[in-house]
Amino acid sequence: MATAYGGPDVLRIVDVDPGEPGPEQVLVEVRAAGINPADWKAYSGASGTDASRLPMRLGYEAAGTVLTAGPGVDGVAPGDDVLFQRSGAYAERLVVKAENVVRKPAALSWARAGGLLVVGSTAMHTVVATRVGSGDTVLVHGAAGGVGSMAVQLARVRGARVIGTASVANHEYLLDIGATPVAYGPGLADRVRALAPRGVDAAIDTVGTNEALDVSIALVKDRHRIATVAAFGRAPALRIQLLGHGPHADPGDDIRAAARPTLVDLVATGRIDVRIAGTYPLEQVARAHRVGLAGHVHGKLVLVR
Ligand SMILES: NC(=O)c1ccc[n+]([C@@H]2O[C@H](COP(=O)([O-])OP(=O)(O)OC[C@H]3O[C@@H](n4cnc5c(N)ncnc54)[C@H](OP(=O)(O)O)[C@@H]3O)[C@@H](O)[C@H]2O)c1
Repeated sequence: MATAYGGPDVLRIVDVDPGEPGPEQVLVEVRAAGINPADWKAYSGASGTDASRLPMRLGYEAAGTVLTAGPGVDGVAPGDDVLFQRSGAYAERLVVKAENVVRKPAALSWARAGGLLVVGSTAMHTVVATRVGSGDTVLVHGAAGGVGSMAVQLARVRGARVIGTASVANHEYLLDIGATPVAYGPGLADRVRALAPRGVDAAIDTVGTNEALDVSIALVKDRHRIATVAAFGRAPALRIQLLGHGPHADPGDDIRAAARPTLVDLVATGRIDVRIAGTYPLEQVARAHRVGLAGHVHGKLVLVR
């Protein structure tokens, strides 16, 4: 939990009774919990320092084994391995709505299961919202990041060609997941034009920089085919799609919920992958956050037990 607003030093492990599962709920023993930028943004103070929100539980996704099921639970039973999205997911045990869990196939490792759903469902929202389809050329900003690498792979599954921005250290990885890499920084629009002489049909921004937005607007004719998950400040005035939770944003709850079983199937059958940058025991959560805060992590960071 975050016990104050600030940097990772404010994080503490606190004993909390998870409670018993009520009707249509299950109690899950957590094996892996994904780390996302939203976790440190919540306690950084960037979105306010409301003291009534402290101490603040962290995390939005996890994977684990069902221990007990409440009355009326259908389709999942004690002993089943599952993954789910829920706030406060950095925990050893959690009560979760049974309708929100997806079964974890044996082929999916705990770390990849714990880190799949937030980036995967967000990326699915971006490709659905921008109507990415066969024959499209799509520009993905931050293509080596958690959301970006998922957007690349899902766009490829839909038959699109993808050009992805990343630092040079990540270019080989982009080639591995099927994107044409391009370095971000001054001259980006011209470099993309050279790679896509017939134009760019859609753009997906996972970075939120002015450069990512301005280049997208310069290259994509239809603003409804530009989506950002990070530029909460500028997106409304630019009339591009803003996806996620916040003022003027489309949360896309139905699209994201429907994406979960599809994502699990795509990863379990090897058609897309979740790259793991590092796994950490819960006790080392502050260390893991420091790595993520540096901003150039190569894959998902996951807390494991
Ligand atoms: N709205 C939503 O629903 C939603 C959901 C999930 C996440 N998000 C947001 O989406 C953003 C990305 O999340 P994530 O989990 O994908 O983060 P991440 O895994 O840390 O990836 C961020 C990527 O950004 C790249 N990057 C850094 N500076 C860049 C620049 N100037 N230009 C282009 N790329 C740059 C880095 O790649 P290099 O190392 O190659 O530079 C890094 O791989 C965060 O702001 C997060 O809060 C929003």
